[in-house]
This record gives sequence, structure tokens and C-alpha cells, in this order.
Amino acid sequence: VDSLVSRVGRKIGVRFPASRKQAVASAIQRVMLRRGLEDVADLVGRIGLDEDLTDEVVTEVTVGETYFFRDPAQFDVIRTMVIPALLSQRPEHAAIRIWSAGCSTGEEPYSLAIAMEEDGLADRARIVATDISREALSTARGAEYGEWSLRNGGMDLLGRYFCRRGDRFQLNRRLARRVRFVRHRLGADKLPSPADGIVDLDLILCRNVLMYLEPAAVKRIAGQLFDCLADGGWLLAGPSDPQLWEHARFETSVTPAGVMYRRNTAAARVGAEPARSGSAVPRPATPDLKPRPDLPHQHGRPRPAAKRSQRRPRTRAAESFARHIRLLRRGDDLGAAAAVASEAVKRHPLSAELHYLQSLGFISEARIDEAAAALRRVIYLDRTLAAAHFLLGSCLRDSDAEAALRAFENALALCAARPADEPVPLMADAVAGRLADRARQQIAALKLRLGGRS
Ligand SMILES: C[S@@+](CC[C@H](N)C(=O)[O-])C[C@H]1O[C@@H](n2cnc3c(N)ncnc32)[C@H](O)[C@@H]1O
Repeated sequence: VDSLVSRVGRKIGVRFPASRKQAVASAIQRVMLRRGLEDVADLVGRIGLDEDLTDEVVTEVTVGETYFFRDPAQFDVIRTMVIPALLSQRPEHAAIRIWSAGCSTGEEPYSLAIAMEEDGLADRARIVATDISREALSTARGAEYGEWSLRNGGMDLLGRYFCRRGDRFQLNRRLARRVRFVRHRLGADKLPSPADGIVDLDLILCRNVLMYLEPAAVKRIAGQLFDCLADGGWLLAGPSDPQLWEHARFETSVTPAGVMYRRNTAAARVGAEPARSGSAVPRPATPDLKPRPDLPHQHGRPRPAAKRSQRRPRTRAAESFARHIRLLRRGDDLGAAAAVASEAVKRHPLSAELHYLQSLGFISEARIDEAAAALRRVIYLDRTLAAAHFLLGSCLRDSDAEAALRAFENALALCAARPADEPVPLMADAVAGRLADRARQQIAALKLRLGGRS
């Protein structure tokens, strides 16, 4: 088994870990049986020369399982933490360069394209997606999927970005064009690869790929991924992937979605050793970009998140932005309030209050989807804000009754746990008892609409 697997692995450029050798050997034997090949030497000799056969072997021996918005918590972190941090750090209008490494049939990079579209950043995103499997890439370019691939997306997503053809769903062309697919073999091909746009990246997703590779390959690839990042750029691996912090000078953060890796040479200079040299062009860090207080940023092994009570107070600058926006809103200058809010969240992406104020601006302009996205960011940053849950429920009432119901139920639970006359944070003039009553009314109406759910 060992020799069969390593001979084939060498030819296709993948080194398999001991734990996968049996499965890989069976996969190779399946191909040989289908092709009527009796001799391993014959198979090995044809790999590389016969493209169809090579693809068949690659597809059999790799695991291509994927779906849209897999590990949604990671997409939340990308939208509420990574992208806002990048926006505040990069020059205005600069492209945000993203690489989905090991993209399989495309669901992951297209999920990124959808997320960027939802957040109004589609024009700035440059997404390149790579895989070793030509067959997977060809499916990805077709951008047509079955319901199973979309199991995490919800009806909302289906309606907005896909066109139904029988039991298949075609991603809309404009979005599909936003992703560039390239064949690349991690561990075998050179990195960085400027010709493919794999250089100076702001965000790399390499999820559920390294778990199938042997430790020596993981180590080498971790160093190469680091070298492909721009200064301040982020890397996300999957929850079951091997740890990477020992293999390169990543800064690590523990987030609700697992460990995030970051190339941060500015921080590395403050530490003992300089960052590894790489081809990435360093870009200046924004001085007012702070790590989220409960997400420790450090080099090396990550520590568990600090307790909530140890959070630093909000920055004075964010507070003064918030005061300014509230004043403008009170004076009915909604346009100016919205403009200030949009600038403020770029500068202070971790301020729940600023995202909340931005959502009020979107609501005033009837931009309900954007308001809901902003409110989701608020809730990600602070789940205890009843006002955000309540407003999210109001935004979703017409489009997604079930999600609206959950949001109102969250608001009710938070308000019911407080004294009735306690002011509701962020919601001017509201008290917990009154908001709880309003949430109850909404819940009753939604339950009636949903068919009398108890
Ligand atoms: C389980 S899928 C992960 C897809 C997606 N990243 C996700 O998390 O949903 C793993 C993909 O990695 C690809 N792969 C495996 N080894 C690779 C290598 N050495 N270079 C590039 N891609 C590889 C496989 O072809 C497969 O499409």
C-alpha cells in the first residue's frame, strides 16, 4: 500500500498522511479497475501524459466535499472583523485580494463573492480560486449547483443570486465572473505566483485541505501561505485543519470561529524576532486599528479569549463619532448622519454602537438588506444588545419570517431578564419592559403568519 500510494502521490504532486493511505490505495485500485489497468507501473507511467486519467486519479484520491457558506461563523468573522480591519488599513478604493486555496467545485470562493456583494464591496474584491483537480475547477467555472450545495444558504440567498433550472441552481453571471479559477497544486507548484494573482494577498482561505496532507507538506505550505500574504493579511484554515502557528511567524487570534492567522510584520518588529522575509509588499498599518479586546493578538500559540469584564473601554474617538451621528439624526440631517456613520465604521470596525447607528441610516433610506447586514455585525460584536435583535427582526419581518421570529425572541429574552424600567442600551428613550411588550406583539403576529407555531 505504502509504495503504491507514494508512487502515485509523487506523480500527482501530493503526499498523503499515514491515516489516509488505505483510502487512497482503494481509490487508486478503483481507477485501475475502471480503466482495465493491471499494472501499477502502467498507471504511474500514464499519469501526467494522459490528462483524463490524471484528472480521474486526482478526483478519486482527494476529498472534494464543500458547500456554500460552510462554517458560517468563519464568514461572520470575515465580514465583521477581517474585512472592516482591511478597509480601515488599506487605501480607499484599493482592491481587496482574496485567495481560496483548495476551492473544490467553487462554493467557497462564490460564497466570498456573495458576501462581498452583500456588503457593497463587490467592485473591490479580487478573488482567485485554485484547486489541484481540473474536474472540480471545470464544475466551479460552470457555477451550477444542486440543492445540497446550497443547504447552508437559505431561501433568501437562492432567490437573490441563483436562477432555478429544474433541480439545479445557476449562480448569476455577474457574480460568477467575479471569481478567477486557476489550477494550482499546493506543495508542488511555486508560491507566491504573481502570474496567477497569488501574491500580496489580503485574505487566504485554505480550509479543509491541509488536513488531508502529510505534516512535512503542511509545514512547507504554511510557510508559503505566509509568504503570499501582504502585511496585515489574514489566513483562515478549517476547524479540523492542523495548527499552523509553529510553521511561520503568524500572529494568531482566537475568534468565535477558531484560530485566525495574520501576517503582521509591524507587530513582529515590536516582538523579539523580525518577521520572515517574503515577497509581500508591506503596507502601513492604521494606527487606530485595535485587536478586539476579547480576541488576544499575539505571535505563536494562541491563548483562550480574555473574559468579557477585561474588555478595554471603547475608544474616545468612536464615542465622539457616535455622539456626532446622534446629533445629526436629531437635527434630521439624515444624509450627513449616514455619511459620517459610513466613515466611522471604516475607522472603528469593532464598535457595535457605530454599526448600529449605520443600520439606522440604512433603515431611513429603506436599504433594508444593508441594515440587516449591519445589525448582524452589531450582534456579532455584542450579542446582549436587545435593540439590535429587535431592529433585525423588524428588517427581516417581510423577507424571512422565521429569522425575524428568532430575532424578536432574542430581544424578548434579553429585555425580560432586565428590570422593566431599565433603559435599553443604544435605543433612545426605550425601556426594557416596553420593548419586551413590543417584541411579544411581533412574535404573536409572526407565529400566526407561520401557521400557528406554539
Ligand atoms: C474538502 S475540499 C475543501 C473545499 C473548500 N475549501 C471547503 O472548505 O469547503 C478539499 C479540496 O482540496 C483539493 N486539494 C487537495 N490537495 C490539494 C493540493 N495539494 N493542492 C491543491 N488542492 C488540493 C481537493 O481537490 C479538494 O477539492
